Amino acid sequence: MKVAVLGAGPAGLYFAISMKRRNPAHEITVFERNRPDDTFGWGVVLSAETLDNLAANDPVSAAWIREYFAYWDDIAVVHKGVRTVSTGHGFCGIGRKRLLLLLQRRARDLGIELIFESEIADPRPFMASHDLVIGADGLNSHSRATFAEVFKPDIDARKCKFVWLGTRQKFDDAFTFIFEETEHGWVWAHAYQFEPETATFIVECSEETWAAWGFGDMTREQSIAVCERIFVRHLGGHRLMSNAGHLRGSAWINFPRVLCERWSHKNLALLGDASASAHFSIGSGTKLALESAVALADYLHSEPSLEAAFDKYESARRTEVLRLQSAARNSLEWFEDVERYLDLDPVQFNYSLLTRSQRISHENLRLRDPDWLGGAEAWFQRRSGNTDNVRRAPMFAPFRLRELRLKNRVVVSPMAQYKAVDGCPTDWHFAHYAERAKGGAGLIYIEMTCVSPEGRITPGCTGFYAPEHEIAWKRLVDFVHAETETRICAQIGHSGPKGSTQLGWQQSDAPLVTGNWPVMAASDVPWSPANQVPKPMDRADMEKVREEFVASAEMAARCSFDMLEIHAAHGYLLSSFITPLTNRRTDEYGGSLENRMRYPLEIFQAVRAAWPAEKPISMRISANDWVGDEGVTPAEAVEIARLLQAAGVDICDVSAGQTSVRARPVYGRMFQTPFSDRIRNETGIATMAVGNIYEPDHVNSILLAGRADLVCLARPHLSDPYWTLHAAVALGDRDVKWPDPYLPGRDQLYRLAERNATMGLKV
Ligand SMILES: Cc1cc2nc3c(=O)[nH]c(=O)nc-3n(C[C@H](O)[C@H](O)[C@H](O)COP(=O)(O)OP(=O)(O)OC[C@H]3O[C@@H](n4cnc5c(N)ncnc54)[C@H](O)[C@@H]3O)c2cc1C
Ligand SMILES: Cc1cc2nc3c(=O)[nH]c(=O)nc-3n(C[C@H](O)[C@H](O)[C@H](O)COP(=O)(O)O)c2cc1C
Repeated sequence: MKVAVLGAGPAGLYFAISMKRRNPAHEITVFERNRPDDTFGWGVVLSAETLDNLAANDPVSAAWIREYFAYWDDIAVVHKGVRTVSTGHGFCGIGRKRLLLLLQRRARDLGIELIFESEIADPRPFMASHDLVIGADGLNSHSRATFAEVFKPDIDARKCKFVWLGTRQKFDDAFTFIFEETEHGWVWAHAYQFEPETATFIVECSEETWAAWGFGDMTREQSIAVCERIFVRHLGGHRLMSNAGHLRGSAWINFPRVLCERWSHKNLALLGDASASAHFSIGSGTKLALESAVALADYLHSEPSLEAAFDKYESARRTEVLRLQSAARNSLEWFEDVERYLDLDPVQFNYSLLTRSQRISHENLRLRDPDWLGGAEAWFQRRSGNTDNVRRAPMFAPFRLRELRLKNRVVVSPMAQYKAVDGCPTDWHFAHYAERAKGGAGLIYIEMTCVSPEGRITPGCTGFYAPEHEIAWKRLVDFVHAETETRICAQIGHSGPKGSTQLGWQQSDAPLVTGNWPVMAASDVPWSPANQVPKPMDRADMEKVREEFVASAEMAARCSFDMLEIHAAHGYLLSSFITPLTNRRTDEYGGSLENRMRYPLEIFQAVRAAWPAEKPISMRISANDWVGDEGVTPAEAVEIARLLQAAGVDICDVSAGQTSVRARPVYGRMFQTPFSDRIRNETGIATMAVGNIYEPDHVNSILLAGRADLVCLARPHLSDPYWTLHAAVALGDRDVKWPDPYLPGRDQLYRLAERNATMGLKV
């Protein structure tokens, strides 16, 4: 095959080598615009695993690379003058220039022609003269631009500015992150040694800080001089150096995240950064480029045609690319938002940094550095007021709100059971909630319990509006208090535009087949075209419903519930005021956020006055309508939380969505937790996170990273009422209290877990 490779970066060179290794008869030419040793950047990070993959593909170049590898195990974080070190992270690095020179040598040895100082503006002549053309021409690929309408690149220029520098100062003991507060804002560095005399020193800051420093108007030398001043305490008298001599201007750039819909066109395939980039903070760009090069070379030899090889290359590599890009996105967003976390305690800040990509979990950190993690867990326990056994996972830390004391941070999220009769809880509710209270969670919720018959969602919803409701709920609360250490929260709400609908397991949110009752809302906007048009509430309606909320709160207080939550999420009545999608009012209850929040806050104030002062109140909100700027956005949710905080709400239960049939949620593990994180760390209000959180690892990492104060699990508690007790067994924690009659079951479970652990099996 006659092959032209455009670009002699890691992707192009390694592809050429991999092809030639598979068939020496290939005639391969690599074209590069720069001179052989004229490369930007300093060191790149690879992992031991990547190197193993390379060794399997080409042992010769892998051995050469290995010879020049710098290894380090530690990550150091310098924040507020405190240097915290954790270990067990296992990185290796090599100079980018060194890597390219080794690959060039290997390519030449294999008979590949390398043509330098050859700028290729257009791949089309090569497509006509060669069997195969590889566009490995990097982030600003001309190959990609030439066929932009085919490849459909999505290029997202990220918010921070960075410059890739080097230094002779030694960072050979740890991959080091340094955060410095300057008169114009925070500036930070990612520093790592990659050869005995030189370390990479990437300087990064927000666009605002960059502009305030005037870096955009400085020459490269002036920029470097400022960076040297900022990091003077860490440079030991050494200079910072740039080797981006061939680049114009100050060499600061915004990282472009590249993803293309397609990676091939006719006989041209994109490879490396040209097809997909991964942010440098997870150090995977070169790994992606090298591994994709191997995969493409493989498929070109295993598949019957170019087309089939390209198809396989795209489908097989896309998943890996998306996986890495998702981790890279988490990581780069963490740095973009880092100013939100800089006030955290250095221990929590460090934990947050280490787990930022969500690839390193809590237990994974324990494997890497049990001492450091143990110290961090002890810090969390002490800060939570636990002085007894501080060597416990964060989920088992106590929590206090007003006079409410929770024994741990796990919450059984509210879940409608649709089993009530005329609003009255039945034996079903007693058995269901009693089981969950015995299951070890610190707090359990009862489902959204409605303030009036018309305020119910379905005919099966529970209420707080008739004397028999009070009797039934009180029986449950008394049992929970008598038999368990779990606390119990009542969620009260009004269905608004989503009322008079079918049971959860029927056609959820659809009107009843018969027996519908009239519904009301902020405005006459129906939930869907199939639902009733609600009556826009007038003043009398608003006062009546407010008094119903107060009467329900009073009933919950008489039942001795420990905490109250007002449901202002998921498109129900109060939510219909908050979201602009359903609030079209022109009075003082519509328009600005302050106006849209007015009625929910009036309800809160009235309920607060009726609820015992020593007991907390939470509000549940939808922090994202998932419809873009037309609805509530995560940024607006921060403002909502500020209003709640100012009004005296004790904790914000941060849910999302279910406010519009047009919503397009992005699901995933812990997918709503970022909203809780943002609200908590930007406003300081306590938060609960919820949504697809299902493993102890998730709960522990959310808590220790300071992304929420409590963690709610809903569906996991439908399949396992004893989720918390089981989590304790899995973590080997023996300090949880089991109900006395169940102790033999507890002992057996711990014994089995120990036996499985010694046999290497998972519990
Ligand atoms: C600041 C920073 C730090 C990074 N740190 C790491 C790290 O630690 N670990 C890691 O794995 N990755 C890292 N990367 C990413 C890594 O550099 C790239 O992902 C990797 O180099 C991709 O390889 P590539 O061959 O696709 O692209 P490149 O390395 O960009 O190579 C493309 C080549 O094509 C040439 N070229 C471009 N246009 C033309 C043209 N028109 N004609 C001829 N030649 C052309 C270029 O000169 C270049 O030599 C970092 C990137 C940055 C920006
Ligand atoms: C069957 C069921 C009923 C629910 N009922 C309520 C409810 O009454 N009030 C409420 O605020 N959320 C309700 N939710 C939402 C949950 O509290 C939770 O926010 C959601 O299920 C996401 O958490 P998960 O991924 O742990 O299930 C319900 C969820 C389920 C599955």
